[in-house]
Amino acid sequence: MATELKSSKYRCPQCSAGDFAVTTTRWRCTGCGQSFACASGIPRLFVEDRLGAQDRKLRDTFYDGLFGRLYQITMPAIVMPVRPLAISWPYWIAYGVMVGLILGLAAGLISTLITGAFAAAALLFAALALILWLLSRQSWLLHLMWVAVPAWLSLSRKPWAPSESFAAVHERALAPLRDAGRRLQILDVSTGSCNSLYRHGWMALDADYTAIDLSETMLKQGSDLMSAAGVPVDLVLGDAMELPFQDDRFDVVLSYGAVNGLSDPAKAIAEMARVARPGGTLLFLDEQMYDAATPVERAYFMKVLSSHNVIHHCPVEDFPPSLTDVRVSQVYQFYYICTARKAG
Ligand SMILES: C[S@@+](CC[C@H](N)C(=O)[O-])C[C@H]1O[C@@H](n2cnc3c(N)ncnc32)[C@H](O)[C@@H]1O
Ligand SMILES: [Zn+2]
Repeated sequence: MATELKSSKYRCPQCSAGDFAVTTTRWRCTGCGQSFACASGIPRLFVEDRLGAQDRKLRDTFYDGLFGRLYQITMPAIVMPVRPLAISWPYWIAYGVMVGLILGLAAGLISTLITGAFAAAALLFAALALILWLLSRQSWLLHLMWVAVPAWLSLSRKPWAPSESFAAVHERALAPLRDAGRRLQILDVSTGSCNSLYRHGWMALDADYTAIDLSETMLKQGSDLMSAAGVPVDLVLGDAMELPFQDDRFDVVLSYGAVNGLSDPAKAIAEMARVARPGGTLLFLDEQMYDAATPVERAYFMKVLSSHNVIHHCPVEDFPPSLTDVRVSQVYQFYYICTARKAG
């Protein structure tokens, strides 16, 4: 099997050296000799024992395996109450069927108990208990059952507009990069299915793309999306809190929908700042509640949308001093985008 020597942007998570002897099945650090196995050709540049408990739990219960494969379905379900009906109606239908089933089973159980049909009651009870147990395994799903309609009603009766929109924040970040006059290096942290990296304007730049995620299931979807789109990208399995990249490498460091859920968001942001070039741009998006949220919207936010998160707002108070020009824009009722520049 051919071995290639890879240096430049990568960094060994064990010893911080930058050179690897690379084959399609493993990367071996030439500094400390540690081997890192590949999954479908993608190097696993992290040390399992050093992962945070929260990161491992989220990966193993949510992003890897069946739930990760269903991510393109579960994610729109989580945000169903905040999206326009024209987009989310199939989810409302599925939700209606599920609620109808639970209520139907509960009504059937009560009536069989009243009429003394205990065998049928036992069956109905078992079916109901099974459904509720399955839902409680993902507690956000259980809470979505009761809070979706009240949250949607509450949100839809008061219009809201951001002072700076999602598109405007992106345009502010993208405009100076179009005139960079050189090939840019862009890193997407916790890229998942590469969906956000692909859709929000970054592909229009003259750039090389690198994308990292901890979940093989998610990154496999990213690999599929980028290959189908014909966009070359260097994919890496790794930990946002210990980015396996050298200092000062990337002109742009992005992260969509991950920072608040990481075990140590401040460390992840410090890592994003470390690998950004002096003068480089950081842009990340995650959950944060707007000021005018009603109690039921807060319940939806805390029990469903942000339930897996460690923090529930942009952690500006923990930013490293190297970050300047920090701006936090509330782009949707429950989402912020933060932009910052690395000094230098
Ligand atoms: C909500 S998804 C967002 C995916 C993608 N950025 C998008 O916009 O669709 C969060 C991603 O963070 C990844 N993740 C969780 N913990 C991580 C960690 N410690 N290091 C790197 N990625 C992590 C998950 O595997 C998942 O793909
Ligand atoms: Zn090493």
